[in-house]
Amino acid sequence: MPERVITDVLAKPDAALEMTLRPSLFSEFVGQANVKERLEIAVQAAKQRGEALDHLLFSGPPGLGKTTLAHIIAKSMGVSIKCTSGPTIEKAGDLAGLLTNLEEGEVLFIDEIHRLQKTIEEYLYPAMEDFKLDIIIDQGPNARSVRLNLPRFTLIGATTRSGLLTAPLLTRFPIRERLDYYHADQLQQIVVRSANLLGIGVEPQGAHEIARRSRGTPRIANNLLRRVRDYAQVRGDGHITVPIADQALAMLAIDQNGLDEMDKRILETIVVKFGGGPVGLNSLAVAVGEEPDTLEEVYEPFLIMEGYLNRTAQGRVATELTYKKLGLQSDPGKQARLL
Ligand SMILES: Nc1ncnc2c1ncn2[C@@H]1O[C@H](COP(=O)(O)OP(=O)(O)O)[C@@H](O)[C@H]1O
Ligand SMILES: [Mg+2]
Repeated sequence: MPERVITDVLAKPDAALEMTLRPSLFSEFVGQANVKERLEIAVQAAKQRGEALDHLLFSGPPGLGKTTLAHIIAKSMGVSIKCTSGPTIEKAGDLAGLLTNLEEGEVLFIDEIHRLQKTIEEYLYPAMEDFKLDIIIDQGPNARSVRLNLPRFTLIGATTRSGLLTAPLLTRFPIRERLDYYHADQLQQIVVRSANLLGIGVEPQGAHEIARRSRGTPRIANNLLRRVRDYAQVRGDGHITVPIADQALAMLAIDQNGLDEMDKRILETIVVKFGGGPVGLNSLAVAVGEEPDTLEEVYEPFLIMEGYLNRTAQGRVATELTYKKLGLQSDPGKQARLL
């Protein structure tokens, strides 16, 4: 694997692993306490009334538990879930097929809902609001519109970019929840739980070392756990201690703050090539060789949260902390000098 290392790979789901490690009950879902409480109440209230749960939108960076929560909700409602994603619904007919096959109370999960085509999205409005679907059958002179009644279903949408959702779609979700990055102690719990499920021996402090360098993201923590396990097996006695975790993470080029090569390349590019910014997203993307979307959805939110990057109207700007991190001195003349 060349330098565009780890985050990219780690942010991608590994289907088999996620099946094993994905919590299936609210009680197993670590962290996000406020979100969890609101969801549990909504679920319980809907169940008491014998109604379908209101439509619900999850937003937040990849790997924080949006898909997991959708499954937990369906399970605790005692209904099944059908999963699809924005880009895979290519024609209005695909959506009609999904909607008309739903059962009463069932959950339809649409991942990456911000990537749904606008023309298809419009079919969703009456479906979500009135549980009706207007479809056009036949073509040419015989074309006519038919209104179908749909069962009362629950739409759960997930998006990494709620800012890209249109207002009409956004407002049709009565429940909207944003997931935030996790604290290291919460990720530690997740690492320990996963280690138990996978039969990996890990010391609490070893788990903490992985947790605090996982970019606040459960998926990354779980993936790093497996990489560290490999290292522990080959270079140690299979047990994950702090030194083993530290050496393994260093080998993976993940630094003390959890930044990887791509994070550092982004920061270096802003500072060295663009004099600390401001630099526009597209120029930055070209300079680091990454897709603008990936930069914006995967890398930037973490760098911003950690204080390495500011997003301004003019573009991305490096912070004091960035200069410090890179061992560079910021100066008013915007010339970065090696110390
Ligand atoms: N709160 C959590 N507690 C425990 N594990 C979690 C939690 N959130 C996510 N995970 C783990 O991280 C993986 C990725 O979560 P997922 O729901 O697929 O993220 P998203 O859909 O937001 O990209 C899951 O398979 C699960 O194992
Ligand atoms: Mg997901």
